[in-house]
Amino acid sequence: MVKRQKIISLLESEKQIKEVLIKGWVRTKRDSKTFSFIEINDGSGLKNMQIIVDETVPDYSEIKKLTTGSAIAVYGALVASRGKGQRWEVQASRIDTISLAPETYPLQKKRHSDEYLRTIAHLRPRTNKYSAIFRIRSELSWAVHQFFRDRGFRYIHTPVITGSDCEGAGELFRVTTLNPLNPSVTDVSVGYANDFFGQESNLTVSGQLSAEMLALSLGDVYTFGPTFRAENSNTSRHVAEFWMIEPEMAFCDLDGNMDLGESLIKHLVAFTMDHCADDLNLFARFVDKTLMPTLENIVSSEFERIPYKEAIDILLASNQSFTFDISYGTDLQSEHERYLTETHFKKPLIIYDYPKTIKPFYMRLNDDDDTVGAMDVLVPRIGELIGGSQREERLDVLEQRMAASGLSKENYWWYLDSRRYGTVPHSGFGLGFERLLMLVTGVSNIRDVIPFPRTPGTIDF
Ligand code: 4AD
Ligand code: MG
Repeated sequence: MVKRQKIISLLESEKQIKEVLIKGWVRTKRDSKTFSFIEINDGSGLKNMQIIVDETVPDYSEIKKLTTGSAIAVYGALVASRGKGQRWEVQASRIDTISLAPETYPLQKKRHSDEYLRTIAHLRPRTNKYSAIFRIRSELSWAVHQFFRDRGFRYIHTPVITGSDCEGAGELFRVTTLNPLNPSVTDVSVGYANDFFGQESNLTVSGQLSAEMLALSLGDVYTFGPTFRAENSNTSRHVAEFWMIEPEMAFCDLDGNMDLGESLIKHLVAFTMDHCADDLNLFARFVDKTLMPTLENIVSSEFERIPYKEAIDILLASNQSFTFDISYGTDLQSEHERYLTETHFKKPLIIYDYPKTIKPFYMRLNDDDDTVGAMDVLVPRIGELIGGSQREERLDVLEQRMAASGLSKENYWWYLDSRRYGTVPHSGFGLGFERLLMLVTGVSNIRDVIPFPRTPGTIDF
């Protein structure tokens, strides 16, 4: 019995192989009178294997009926290809049809739009572009763990269901066992008391508050998990469910935090260039012709670092007509972020020391009593990729900031405890994994870098 092999490894073979077995899906088939060419792909890599089937192969008349999308098993010999474009091909001695796809298979040879492919998200991973994205997604996940492990960080798991609102932005998905279609009288009259947790609870918008507790015991930690935001904004950079990487470091200030953010981005971009060359090449050719120079620029340039005040001055002096007006004290919109990183600096940019009024309660108050030790990392084509800060470690200042944000001390008693017992300066950030994938692939819509995107009004698949 021959063992099945993956196409990606057979294509790298050093020599001919007498007997091979591959399994995959038919991408195309061309027939002549006495033989057929079949291109099959098994998802292991971008490249297909070309199969030559001649009329002496058993059931050749059945093989001729194979359609695009059908699944087959091919037995044969790996031989040097006589055609152009590939080194190896398989001379088939037997083909078993695993399943025959009817002609209604939606992925026929023509090119489909991203919009159409979103409506068949269950099948789009069978295309070159989407399989490449999801392979890069897998490789980069490993690279994230490798980066932190090499630096002595511990991988921690923070809860998905929480009772707190870390960002204070109110973009929460409620978690409840009460039935909204049939609220009983007791449900209504006692509020959350009858609910599963006996209090308001929601899906996490960030693992940060829990990560801080573990950083204040294990030192350097990170999370990498699903994150949920009920932002009702239909943009190309927001989804309701995304994956966030959140490192948190004890004994670390804002500068150290910026250094880590810059190294992480450079590491992940360089890793993709080194380890995903085939797949990346597809994006450089068909999705964004400037992709490789953009990525090289990120790896080789020192990220610019400027305070928020200076960013506002640059924007005011820019003479650009922005849709949203900008002034000291307003939050930067994506158009402002992109102007700064793409047009003005032409490289990644870290903006720090934002006004306290536009940032969450946990960020460390600066001596000016006006700004906080926040940092956002902006990159070309995406805008904000990382949001982070040094954390307020002083109990009295933190309590004042919470009161000013309308947060109850009782709900956050455990968080405040960490400032009571052995509090230390510490910092961390969150990096949106889908935005990173947009950066490295040049894909312009976030819905196309996650297999089954969740956005307002859509929960198919
Ligand atoms: O800037 P954010 O809101 O920061 C935090 O949540 C901090 N608590 C993180 C921390 O310090 N540990 O979000 C961090 C990053 C953003 O920069 C962005 O890349 C991504 O998460 N992000 C989203 N990505 C996709 N869809 C959304 N709706 C996103 N919201 C944030
Ligand atoms: Mg942010």
